[in-house]
Amino acid sequence: KNNFVIAIDGFSSCGKSTVAKALAKKLNFVFVDSGAMYRAVTLYFIQNNVDMNDEAQVAKAIADIHIDFIPNSQQTQILLNGEDISEAIRTMEVSSLVSEVSALKQVRTAMVAQQQKLGAKRNIVMDGRDIGTTVFPSADLKIFMTADPYIRAERRFAELAAKGEQLTMEAVVENLAHRDHIDSNREESPLRQAEDAVVLDNSQLTQEQQLDFVLDLYRKTK
Ligand code: C5P
Repeated sequence: KNNFVIAIDGFSSCGKSTVAKALAKKLNFVFVDSGAMYRAVTLYFIQNNVDMNDEAQVAKAIADIHIDFIPNSQQTQILLNGEDISEAIRTMEVSSLVSEVSALKQVRTAMVAQQQKLGAKRNIVMDGRDIGTTVFPSADLKIFMTADPYIRAERRFAELAAKGEQLTMEAVVENLAHRDHIDSNREESPLRQAEDAVVLDNSQLTQEQQLDFVLDLYRKTK
């Protein structure tokens, strides 16, 4: 094995993608946002009225779903069957269903296989919920991110409000708690801190301090 795999897991809206992206840029690694893949599947289910309780419908949908990442100078675009859905997957509608869709065994099996393929030969930073436990149990470096729930909700609220979504702080708090609960309690690869993961609580840290923290770990692990 001559590639380096960095797994970043944690609760919703802890800033995993922000750190992962900055780290990948700094190290010139590929960045994969695994949550975006589950969001893409969820968007497909919404657009095509897929009944997630119907295994045959779910299987048919999965067979029809193709997800691609296009690295850009600015940020990675995500394509669902050729269409750029980078923005469309960030709505509250998708957020409110994504944890139910991601708990489906068929969905997880398909996404995990694709994620493992993406990281098989490349230097990669992948963020999600089960990257250090299920997708890459032998990742070279594992980070588990956490932050004060109120701070997480505030950050997410500001992000969505800036995009013009009409919503209340309560709705955001509720959605984060809902997703964390389902993600932590599902049968298939629940959100867990891997035994060998290093905890990063970023409640009081700037983005620069977070990047320094993980870069330091990377240099020590390399
Ligand atoms: O990372 P993000 O918050 O965008 O992920 C959206 C949802 O996708 C999570 O709440 C979780 O339900 C699901 N997810 C997952 N496994 C991953 C990444 C995300 O189940 N590795």
